[in-house]
Amino acid sequence: MDIMTNFFYPPIGPLPYQGRVRVGLLLLKKETSMTIGIGIIGGGGIAAEGHIRGYQTDARCEVLAIYDVDADKAQEQAERLGVPQVYGALDEFLARPDIQAVSICSPDHLHGEQVHAALRAGKHVLCEKPMCTTREDAARIVQDVRETGLTFLGGHVYHFRPDYQAMATAYQTGEIGEVWLAEGDYISDLRSVYGPNSQTPWRTNAQAAQDILLGGGCHPLGLMLWALQTQVTQVFAFANHKAEPILPLNDCYVVSLTFANGAIGKLIAASGNRGYAPTGGHLTLYGTEGTLWGGKLYRNNREEHRTEIIHDYREQFKDHKPRVHDTRQVHHFAEQCEHFLDCIEGKAQPQMSAIDAARVIAALVAGIESARTGQMVPVDNNF
Ligand SMILES: NC(=O)c1ccc[n+]([C@@H]2O[C@H](COP(=O)([O-])OP(=O)(O)OC[C@H]3O[C@@H](n4cnc5c(N)ncnc54)[C@H](O)[C@@H]3O)[C@@H](O)[C@H]2O)c1
Repeated sequence: MDIMTNFFYPPIGPLPYQGRVRVGLLLLKKETSMTIGIGIIGGGGIAAEGHIRGYQTDARCEVLAIYDVDADKAQEQAERLGVPQVYGALDEFLARPDIQAVSICSPDHLHGEQVHAALRAGKHVLCEKPMCTTREDAARIVQDVRETGLTFLGGHVYHFRPDYQAMATAYQTGEIGEVWLAEGDYISDLRSVYGPNSQTPWRTNAQAAQDILLGGGCHPLGLMLWALQTQVTQVFAFANHKAEPILPLNDCYVVSLTFANGAIGKLIAASGNRGYAPTGGHLTLYGTEGTLWGGKLYRNNREEHRTEIIHDYREQFKDHKPRVHDTRQVHHFAEQCEHFLDCIEGKAQPQMSAIDAARVIAALVAGIESARTGQMVPVDNNF
């Protein structure tokens, strides 16, 4: 049950500039066969700078409403971005038939319940990472998607970076042979979003703090599983709590992984970084014929013992900016929204389906359990 939905305030009426927004959309409608009504659950930073701005670059849809428990914040975001209505009750928001699809951008621990509610209300769902925070919720979402036949896209926005797409394609087309070792890091400095007076106080709230292995580790693990098209079979994790006293949970994890394809791997998730993290970044793949590291494809010249850079994808795509890039937001959210709309229209299959996202959650919660118990934990991928 969503703990916040008993807070209610009535939908706010049309905004002064609504007429202008609608005129623009009416003109667009002449060229498109249908407009997909979008609702936003959780109207904070990533909703505004990522999802709403992203949808607003695509003429196939219109962002109709925001549901948020913080009335003032939602109203401010709605006015700033031209979203016509704000709701304080989830059931009222979900009852609107013209909202066909929702983006879920609330704090991590609320995703599981809200995805379930939205799917059961007949809405297509794009859910911010992590899809949920328990294996039980992941299994329920997979079941919801199976039974409703609706589109679910896990919001793993790094998949839309062209350098990662090129790395995944390089592996999948045999450029580095068989992968024997995969690594991924999320080593961040989250001080600006930690603490009661930060941009996102929920992350360090003692009742439901963000576990960095779920909230951060999902990025590199999502990339690994997507690139390798495999599953994690076992995990063994160490964790400590030294760098971020304000976070009431472990702030650093090192997780050893085994994969169904025979490779082994290492995942690091940490939020206490105070300087450069000199690693391969979010995705590194070592193969029998070459290596994908730091956005580059390397091969060794056997005769001369020389390492050659075959492709530098970072360099190749350095000028390829996300479509929405003139804000605080730096990721490819507009491209992710476009893909979600393509999936709804039946033109694409989700890059991160409910089962894919559930397998990421299954491995990460196994990692948290392993760090807690000191035991190796098998991962149940059967969804
Ligand atoms: N993909 C990425 O790179 C990326 C980056 C940052 C955050 N995120 C994810 O996006 C989500 C939101 O993060 P954010 O940084 O925008 O946080 P935020 O605090 O700016 O926004 C969260 C919003 O949810 C609202 N909220 C709280 N309880 C709610 C409830 N019960 N129902 C509806 N709304 C509720 C808050 O009032 C707030 O407006 C998180 O899951 C986070 O992990 C993803």
